Amino acid sequence: MPKREPQLVVALDFQTKGEALALAAQLKGVAPWLKVGLELFVAEGPGIVRELKALGFRVFVDLKFLDIPNTVRGAVRSAVKSGADMLNIHACGGADMARVAVAARDEAAAEMGLDTRPLLLSVTVLTSMMDPSLPVLNGRAPAQVVLELAKASRAAGLDGVVCSGQEAAGIKAACGQDFLCLTPGIRIPNPEATPDDQRRVMTPEAAVAAGSDFLVVGRPITRAVDPAAAAREILHRMGGRMAQAPLMGA
Ligand code: C5P
Repeated sequence: MPKREPQLVVALDFQTKGEALALAAQLKGVAPWLKVGLELFVAEGPGIVRELKALGFRVFVDLKFLDIPNTVRGAVRSAVKSGADMLNIHACGGADMARVAVAARDEAAAEMGLDTRPLLLSVTVLTSMMDPSLPVLNGRAPAQVVLELAKASRAAGLDGVVCSGQEAAGIKAACGQDFLCLTPGIRIPNPEATPDDQRRVMTPEAAVAAGSDFLVVGRPITRAVDPAAAAREILHRMGGRMAQAPLMGA
C-alpha cells in the first residue's frame, strides 16, 4: 500500500472564538486541519467546530474523554454530531469504554448519513509526561506503556493513537501501518526556543520519518510573529504537499 502523506493539525488553543477565527483566517489554504481542544471548546461550545468547518477546515475535537462507558458513549455521539472529523478518548479508560466509544461513533455517523466516519483515536501517555514515577507509568518507561495501550486500542477497534514521535515506529511495527499515529510535542530546533511543558518532543522531520500520520502543532505556530509562515516552515520540514492531502477516514 502506498505511504500516506502526513498531515499538519494546528492546535487552536485560545479562550475566545475571535482569536481562533483570526488564526484560522491566516491558515486558510495552508493547513488542512485545525484542532479544537478543551480550552476553546469549554469557552465556545460546539458552534466553533461548525464555524471552522464552514471555513473549509477539517476539525479534530480533542476532548480526551475518560468516564464511565455510558457517559463516554453520549459524549462521543455529541462530538460526532458537532461535525468533528476526528475525536479522541483516553486509552487508560479500558476496553469496555473504548468499544462503547467505537460503537457510539459508528451509530452517530450512520444517523448523520456520513460517507466517512470521523477518526476515533485514543490518548496513550501525554507527551508532557516522562517521569517513570508518575502513577500512570508505575515505574515503567513511557514507550512500554504507550505500546501496551496502543495494542489494546487496536484490539478495541480504534483507528489509532495519540503518541510521541518517539513511539510511532514501534506502534506501527506492532499494530500495522494502517493504525494511525497522531503526534503532538513537535518542536523545531532553535537555541532560543523552549519545549514549553512538552517532554517527549521531536522535530517534524523526525516524527514523519518515524511514521507519524498527523503532527499536532500549537505554540510554535500560534505564538509565531507570522503563524502562516511558521506553518509553511513545518509543512516544508514534513515534506510538503500537505494542503492538498486527502482526508484519511475510517
Ligand atoms: O503548543 P503545543 O504544540 O505543545 O500544543 C500541543 C497540543 O497537543 C495541545 O493542544 C495539547 O492539548 C495537545 N496534546 C498534547 N499531548 C497529547 C495530546 C494532545 O500535547 N498527548
